[in-house]
Amino acid sequence: MPSKPLVEGDVRAVGRGGDAVVETPNGIVLVPGALPGERVEIALTSSKRGAARGHLTRVLRAAPERQAPPCADALRCGGCPLMIASPELQRDIKRSFLRDACRGLPGASDTEIEWVASTATLAYRRRARIAWHRGTIGYRQLHSKHVADIRECIVLVEPLREAWSAVRECLASSLQGDGEIQLQLTGADRVVVDLHARADQTPELFGACDALSERPIIAGVTLRTNDTGGPATWGDTHVVIPMGEGVALEGPAGTFSQANDSINARLVDAVVELANATGLRVLELHSGIGNFTVRLAAEAKTLVAVEQDPRAVEACQGNLKRRGLQARVAVGDASQPPKGRYDVLVLDPPRQGARALFEHSDVLPGPKRVVYVSCDTATLARDLHLATAKGYRIDRLIGFDMFPHTAHLESLVRLIRV
Ligand SMILES: C[S@@+](CC[C@H](N)C(=O)[O-])C[C@H]1O[C@@H](n2cnc3c(N)ncnc32)[C@H](O)[C@@H]1O
Repeated sequence: MPSKPLVEGDVRAVGRGGDAVVETPNGIVLVPGALPGERVEIALTSSKRGAARGHLTRVLRAAPERQAPPCADALRCGGCPLMIASPELQRDIKRSFLRDACRGLPGASDTEIEWVASTATLAYRRRARIAWHRGTIGYRQLHSKHVADIRECIVLVEPLREAWSAVRECLASSLQGDGEIQLQLTGADRVVVDLHARADQTPELFGACDALSERPIIAGVTLRTNDTGGPATWGDTHVVIPMGEGVALEGPAGTFSQANDSINARLVDAVVELANATGLRVLELHSGIGNFTVRLAAEAKTLVAVEQDPRAVEACQGNLKRRGLQARVAVGDASQPPKGRYDVLVLDPPRQGARALFEHSDVLPGPKRVVYVSCDTATLARDLHLATAKGYRIDRLIGFDMFPHTAHLESLVRLIRV
């Protein structure tokens, strides 16, 4: 087989996906594992949809911020592409994603990007999604469906690491086909395992789940298969999320919860501060199990919350009730919120963002403040263009390092109606 062509080039930036953008005589090539300012040698691998890709064969001139990654699997796994960079460079790279998302928009050049660093850069994740392919359990590799056989992950909190070992020991020999496993910390030190199988499974897996649920670290297990019935469950599959001094949030296995407790506490405080909802009519979209809802409901005159997952809505109602709070929480599509007059809009969409809301909903322009929590700066950029075209300007920008070492950034943007 002919060997892949080698080229040399200079790294100009790190893109939103975590790949280095390398300028070569053949044009721009995207390459994992390189940092801005470096000169590198690359083997060209593929060219998909206009983007040439390669893999790093040599670093010819290293950036001063390059560091040895603390994880032995960092380069193979792809989950933490920035682990080779100092914390300061990681911060600068991620801030540039947010700056680029807002560039040229009304208010952006007058608004400084505030930054909230994670207190822990390892052992910070309370939730992880891993994959299996037959007996191989691990993370999907960057830009690939291939499941890398990862034995441990040092960004997970200790109970999740222990649970991962238990999953491997109990289930690896019984899993068929492909599927996903969500590990969620419950309380301080136990884990709920949520298995989602895409292929038919054998009765042996049910026995293996039974054995897994007996492990002291495991609070409960759910198994969803292609059968139309509900999931099989073992033990207690309720996820309990401590909220600092306040009452814990509760939700069923598999519903969304934020991944980094200390950053989430800062995020919730900032959302409440920026919404400034005291005595106002608030619309909250993508409310999940009520992470922001329970704080907003305590301040707002009225609160309407919309969430598409019925199990999350039920959990949110329970979380409000346990605190003696009231809000109207509805199962629905955030792109078509209930008609009404709202002073403040808070939204926290998944990566796809909220295009239909900004393009078509007659809720906008109505609220005097929009507080947008985003986990994807590409869709954030698109939605901010739409929002500013409807008469809003940016007045606060905050980056939260929810996922140290990864290329993911949690951003909080406040827009004010001009
Ligand atoms: C990033 S999570 C945020 C949840 C919550 N704000 C939190 O902090 O935990 C996004 C939420 O949006 C919900 N969601 C996704 N698409 C939706 C849609 N079209 N309409 C309403 N909710 C949606 C998901 O079920 C998920 O709970």
